[in-house]
Amino acid sequence: MCGIVAYIGEKEAQPILLEGLKRLEYRGYDSAGVSLLVSKSFRIRKTTGRITALEAEIGKETRHESLGIGHTRWATHGKPTTANAHPHTDCSGKICLVHNGIIENYATLKKWLESKGCTFASETDTEVIANLIGYFYSSENGDGDAEREGINKFEWAVQQALRELVGTYGLAILCSDFPDMLIGAKKGSPLILGVGENEYIVASDAAAIVEHTTQAIYLSDNEIVTIKGNTFRTKTIDNITVSKKLSELEFSLGEIALEGYEHYMQKEIAEQVDALSTCMNGRIDLAGSRVVLGGLSNYLRDLARVKRIILTGCGTAWHAGLIGEYLFEQLARIPAEVEYASEFRYRNPIIEDGTIVIAISQSGETADTLAAIEQAKDRGAPVFGLVNVVGSTIARTTDAGVYLRVGPEIGVASTKAFTAQVTVLTMLAIELGRRRHLSQSDAHGLLEDMLNLPEKIAKALKLSEEIKRIAKANIDQPNWLFLGRGLNYPVGLEGALKLKEISYIHAEGLPAAEMKHGPIALISEGMPAVFVATQSSNYDKIIGNIEEVRARGGRTIVIASEGDEQIADYADHLIKVPEVREPLQPVVNVIPLQLLAYHAAVLKDYDVDKPRNLAKSVTVE
Ligand code: F6R
Repeated sequence: MCGIVAYIGEKEAQPILLEGLKRLEYRGYDSAGVSLLVSKSFRIRKTTGRITALEAEIGKETRHESLGIGHTRWATHGKPTTANAHPHTDCSGKICLVHNGIIENYATLKKWLESKGCTFASETDTEVIANLIGYFYSSENGDGDAEREGINKFEWAVQQALRELVGTYGLAILCSDFPDMLIGAKKGSPLILGVGENEYIVASDAAAIVEHTTQAIYLSDNEIVTIKGNTFRTKTIDNITVSKKLSELEFSLGEIALEGYEHYMQKEIAEQVDALSTCMNGRIDLAGSRVVLGGLSNYLRDLARVKRIILTGCGTAWHAGLIGEYLFEQLARIPAEVEYASEFRYRNPIIEDGTIVIAISQSGETADTLAAIEQAKDRGAPVFGLVNVVGSTIARTTDAGVYLRVGPEIGVASTKAFTAQVTVLTMLAIELGRRRHLSQSDAHGLLEDMLNLPEKIAKALKLSEEIKRIAKANIDQPNWLFLGRGLNYPVGLEGALKLKEISYIHAEGLPAAEMKHGPIALISEGMPAVFVATQSSNYDKIIGNIEEVRARGGRTIVIASEGDEQIADYADHLIKVPEVREPLQPVVNVIPLQLLAYHAAVLKDYDVDKPRNLAKSVTVE
């Protein structure tokens, strides 16, 4: 949700900014821009579209400046036009900045600034920040106040302006009077300072930094970093000095290379074999029939005694949470429910003693999930995180947690993070079950089968060509249904989400038995209905649901277990996946659905990794 990058050092800034923006492009790709400080004024280049369009705009204009800022945008306030693209300056042209976040009181501030004579060139909330800083910077008493506070006027103006903002921001700010200074600021949107040798990079995430350094500082909310020449200092917006620890970024460039694949989504689907092994590595103690989750080791005893578990997250992470709900209830017999983070945060939830909250997030930066965590914490609930990105805000905000360990997920449609989220939830449910009444032999059997999951996924991946044929035969259909029961219901929801977000085909996921309460009216001749109908406790029931669809002319695409001989009669297209125990089926059954969406999008010639209107990490509300 917007990527920002800024460079100050001894090298040429422009290529570093452009390279950084390419690595952050998955965060938003509506428009892009860079600004360099060139002899006391800003040379800004910006355009709609991708970073390649920005490169074309810049053309052969090489620049040698070593201070600059860049941005790749996911539009919030204002359409994706060149005028709305960042960087933005204030109306005096002295302040130039890039922003990731949303300023909620921007309309009021804009009116007030207009009354002071400011003019605006864009529809963005960001331009208000630039002008507010510019307003304080040009105020007459600024010099004296700044001196009394022991800071320079640029820093002072930034502090003053940020105190007026309601909303979220990750900012990189330049002032034309300070040609050797860069300021970064954070509230609610991620911001990292990469600390290299005689150079610094401020960026939304590690991807834009690791090529230059692995040493970094994670800014916290309401903090400002000022980099001047070869030194930096961190303060709060209230001018209180804070000392920050250098952390080692756990991220390698190799992990974000395509390595021969055509798309990141394709690579990430294939990576699930190894990713799940890594996710489980050292965490399953087969001999003891136990699960070892280091991050939660101090809490597991209490966790097993909780009265209620609330899982929360958004989109795909919410689907994983729904699977978690079923598993905690089935395996650990703990009441559980999953909540959309965006709803939970605003509905004044009742959280009694004995309730814990588990927040699920690939990026660890999703604004709604973060707000849900704050809600839960305010009500005194312990909050645990299941997060992929190491050091992300959710990882740092929760009391403890478990990392997914699947490496960077670049494709906007989540795949390997989903299967890892489900895997961690399954391990946790088994361990909590063991501490309650799940028998050693049942736990042993499940854990043994979990260790075989990578092999089963590898087998499911071999279905790719067959699934491509099914996608080809059906992509002209504008409406699809995805149906399942029990644990296969959230799998269907995930299949529908994947299809709609990357192939723009309308798809709906439903519990199969809900069909007859309304949606069955949608079935018309040839409409694809994907049934996840692997061997399970309600297998016979779902066969009935398949018949209901066929009787009305629907075209059935059925995911069934290998060895199921009777189901062929019910399927127009049959996809057979390796058999696994029922609680473990979601991670295998979702593979053909990921492949189906992938092939449909490729066949339609859409940008699989950067679907329209979306961004990888949703850091705004
Ligand atoms: C769908 C998808 C989104 C995310 C959601 C939450 O493929 O990726 O639905 O799952 O935006 O993101 P995280 O997990 O980063 O909190």
